[in-house]
Amino acid sequence: MKDATPRATLLSEYRPFSHLIDAVELDFRLAPNATRVRSRIAFRPNPAGEGGPLRLDGEGLTLISARIDGKDVAPRILPGGLVCEVPDGPFTWEAEVEIDPASNTALEGLYMSNGMYCTQCEAEGFRKITYYPDRPDVMAPFTVRIESDLPVLLSNGNPASREGGVAEWHDPHPKPAYLFALVAGDLVAHEDAFTTMEGREVALAVWVRPGDEGKCAYAMDALIRSMRWDETEYGRPYDLDVFNIVAVDDFNMGAMENKGLNIFNSRYVLASPETATDGDYGRIEAIVAHEYFHNWTGNRITCRDWFQLCLKEGLTVFRDQQFTGDMRSPAVKRIEDAHLLRGRQFREDNGPLAHPVRPESYVEINNFYTATVYEKGAELIGMLRRLVGPDAYRRALDLYFERHDGEACTIEDWLAVFEDATGRDLAQFKRWYSQAGTPRLAVETARDGNALAVTFRQSTPPTPGQPEKRPVVLPVALGAIGPDGTELMPTRVIEVTEAEQTERFDLPEGAVLSILRDFSAPVILTREQSAQDRALLLAHDTDPFNKWEAGRTLAKDALVAMITDDRAPDTAYLDALAPVLGDETLDPAFRALVLAIPSDDDLAQTLASAGTTPDPQRIDRARHALIGALAKHLEEQLSGLYDAMRIDGPYSPDAGDAGRRSLRNAALLLLSHRDEGARADAQFEAADNMTDELAALTTLLRIDRADESVARFHDRWRDDRLVIDKWFSVQVMHAPGPKAADVAARLTEHPAFDWKNPNRFRAVMGALGANHAGFHAEGGTAYDLLADWLVRLDPVNPQTTARMTTLFETWPRYDADRQALMRAALERIGNAPGLSRDTSEMVSRMLG
Ligand code: ARG
Ligand code: ZN
Repeated sequence: MKDATPRATLLSEYRPFSHLIDAVELDFRLAPNATRVRSRIAFRPNPAGEGGPLRLDGEGLTLISARIDGKDVAPRILPGGLVCEVPDGPFTWEAEVEIDPASNTALEGLYMSNGMYCTQCEAEGFRKITYYPDRPDVMAPFTVRIESDLPVLLSNGNPASREGGVAEWHDPHPKPAYLFALVAGDLVAHEDAFTTMEGREVALAVWVRPGDEGKCAYAMDALIRSMRWDETEYGRPYDLDVFNIVAVDDFNMGAMENKGLNIFNSRYVLASPETATDGDYGRIEAIVAHEYFHNWTGNRITCRDWFQLCLKEGLTVFRDQQFTGDMRSPAVKRIEDAHLLRGRQFREDNGPLAHPVRPESYVEINNFYTATVYEKGAELIGMLRRLVGPDAYRRALDLYFERHDGEACTIEDWLAVFEDATGRDLAQFKRWYSQAGTPRLAVETARDGNALAVTFRQSTPPTPGQPEKRPVVLPVALGAIGPDGTELMPTRVIEVTEAEQTERFDLPEGAVLSILRDFSAPVILTREQSAQDRALLLAHDTDPFNKWEAGRTLAKDALVAMITDDRAPDTAYLDALAPVLGDETLDPAFRALVLAIPSDDDLAQTLASAGTTPDPQRIDRARHALIGALAKHLEEQLSGLYDAMRIDGPYSPDAGDAGRRSLRNAALLLLSHRDEGARADAQFEAADNMTDELAALTTLLRIDRADESVARFHDRWRDDRLVIDKWFSVQVMHAPGPKAADVAARLTEHPAFDWKNPNRFRAVMGALGANHAGFHAEGGTAYDLLADWLVRLDPVNPQTTARMTTLFETWPRYDADRQALMRAALERIGNAPGLSRDTSEMVSRMLG
C-alpha cells in the first residue's frame, strides 16, 4: 500500500534503532498465493537508542499471529508497519504472516518468475516478507528454514540440513535484511570449486533453469577470477563454504549481492558464443565481479543508512573497473568508463534530476540507484587514489577493513580512514559528496619565453536546491608533447583547489599540453585548442585517454560546425584518423573506439552545454553526412581492415579477439555506405557468433535494408528469450528517426512482447529512448507512446516505471515545442490515478 502523502526521508534525521538483534530465525512454507513466514527474533535494547516501543516495517503482509516471550500480543498495524509495546530488557518476538508471491509483479520482496521463487530485498523489500526493522544498520545472523516441494531450496550462508522437502541454512555473518535472499525452484547447477588463500574449500554453483546449463561457464570463470583478484589486489578472502549465483528472467536491475547467494538478471549470467555478444561477455564478467566484490565492500562493511549508498556502490564499481582493466586493457576500460560517465552521469548532473553522490533527502530510495551514486561515486574513489597514490590507497583500504569489519558505516568513516592512513586533510575533498553538478574546468595559457603559465578556472553550475557552489579538489593529470611528437613532459598531477589557480611550467615554444590525462577528474574541460594541436595529440599523445579524446574532440568540432553552420565534413579530421587506424602497434579495441562517431545524444548534450538548442534532425543529418564522408575518404583502408581483422578459428570472448571484432564491425558499418550492405549480408549469413551476427543485422538496419534479415533472425532465435530481447531492441534503436515510434508501437503488439518482463519492456521502450532522432521526432508521438506505456506499467512495476521516466530528463535542453510536448507527457504520467510513490517522485523532480 502506498502512502497518500509521501514524506521525504532526511539524512539529518538519522537516529539509531531502538533495539539490537542477536539472532533471527525465519521459517518459510512456500505456496504461490499463500506463503507463510514465521519469524523469531531475539531483540535487546540498543544502548545508543532512544527507547520507546518496538516499531517494525511491514508492507502488504497479513499478520496471522504475534507473540512476545511466548505470549500473544496485539500490535497496532499502521500503513507501513506496526508498533508494539515491549519489555524493557531483552525479549523474543515471534510472528507469522501470509504473503502472496505469485501476485507480486513489482519484483520486490518474495516473488515468482517462471515457476521459481526468488527475492529482491535491496533497498526496502524485506518488509514485504515479514515485519522487521528494515534498515541497513540493524545487523543479525540469520537461520532460515524453507519448506517446499521444489527440488532446489537456497538461502544465505552455509547449508545446515536437508531432509525431504525441508532445507535449513545458517548465515553466521551478521547482516542487514536487505542482504537476505531465498530461492526455490526446479534448477540445475554448473558447479566448480575454489580454495581461498586461507585454505578454505568453497563449493561454487551457478543455478539456472534446465536447458541453460550450457551457458554458465563464462560466469563461473569470471567468478573464480574475481575471487582470486580480490585476494591478490585487496587481500580479501571469501568467508563461507558455498557461493551460489542464481539467474532469474524477471529482475528489475542487473544483479544483487545477497550474502552467499547472489541473484542475477539472467542476461548477466547466460552466455554462449552463438547467443551472446562480446559486450554481453564483458558485462557478465564485470557484474559477476561487482557482486562478488560487494562481499567485502557492502556486506562485511555495510551502510549505516541509504544516504551512504555510494559507500558500497562507488567503491565496488571502482573495484570492478580496476578488475576489468586488469583482465582486459586498462586504457580501453578507462575510455569506456569515461564515455559512459559522460553519457549517463553528466546527462543526469546537468538536468533536473541532478543530486549529490550522497543525497540528503529522498522519497523512494530506489530512485537513487543512479549513475551519480554509482559511477560518479566510483570517480571519487579514483580521485582519492590518484591524490594519495596507490600504496597509501592500499594502506587506507587495509585500515578500512580492519577498523570497520562487521559495521554499518558512513562516508565520514570512509574519509577518516584515508585521513588517518595518509595524514591528509580531506575536508575540501568531502564537498564532492555533497555538491551536485559537473564542475567546468576552463584552461588558458600564457607564454613568456620558455615559461608557460597555465590558468585553471573551476566553477559548478547551480543544480536543483543548490544555487551556490564552492571549489572542489581537482587532481589534474597533465603532460606535454613536442611539435615533433616526442614527450616533453611526462604526466604529473596538479591539485587544483581554488576557483582560479595558475601553475607554471618550463616548456619550449610549440609544446602542446595534454590536460586531464586518464580523465583524472569528472569535469567538463573547456579549452581553446587548434585542430593541428589536436591532431598532434591524436597522433602522438602517450596517454591513451587523451589520444582518444583528441580524436573525439576533432570529430565533435567537425560535427558541431556541420550542425550549426551547415559546413562540410572537416577534412583535417578525416586525414588525422587514417594514420591511427593503420597503426598496427595500437590495440584494435582502441582503434575501434577512435573510429566511433559521437552519438546524437552526446552531440545534443555538447551543444546544450555550450548554450545552443540542439535540433535532433539536424544532428542526425550531420552525423550521417560525416559517416558518409568518412566511409568515402577511408574506404580502401576500411576495406583492408575489414579483411585483416577477420578471425579464423573458434570464437573466444577474450579481449584480444573481441577488440578485433569491434574494429572489424566498426569498419563494416562504415563500408555499408559504400557497398549497399553487401558485406553485411554476407556476414549475417556466415556468422558463427552473435557479435558478428548482430553487428551485421544492426548495419543492415542502419541502411534500411534489413527487412529480410530481421525476419530470419526472429525465426532463428524465437525460442531464446535473451536473443529475442535483442531482436526487439535493435529494430527500434536503429529505425530511421521518423519511423521509430511506429516500429516500437508495432512491436508492442507482437505476441512475444511480454511487457511485464522488465528486460522485454526495456528492450522496446529503452531502445525508443535511445534512438535520439526517433524519440524526438516531430510531433511527439514517441513521447506519447512511452508515456502511455509507463502509465500502464506503473501499477504493475513501479520501480522499473520510475527508472524509465528518466528518458524524459533531458527536456530542458530542447526547443519550446519539444519542451512543451515532453512536459505534457510527464504531466500525463504524473496525473495517472493511484500513481506510485516511485514514479510520482521522479515526475515531480523532473517538472521542478
Ligand atoms: N546492490 C545492487 C548492485 O549494485 C543493486 C540493487 C538495486 N536494487 C534496487 N531495487 N534498488 O549490485
Ligand atoms: Zn553494487
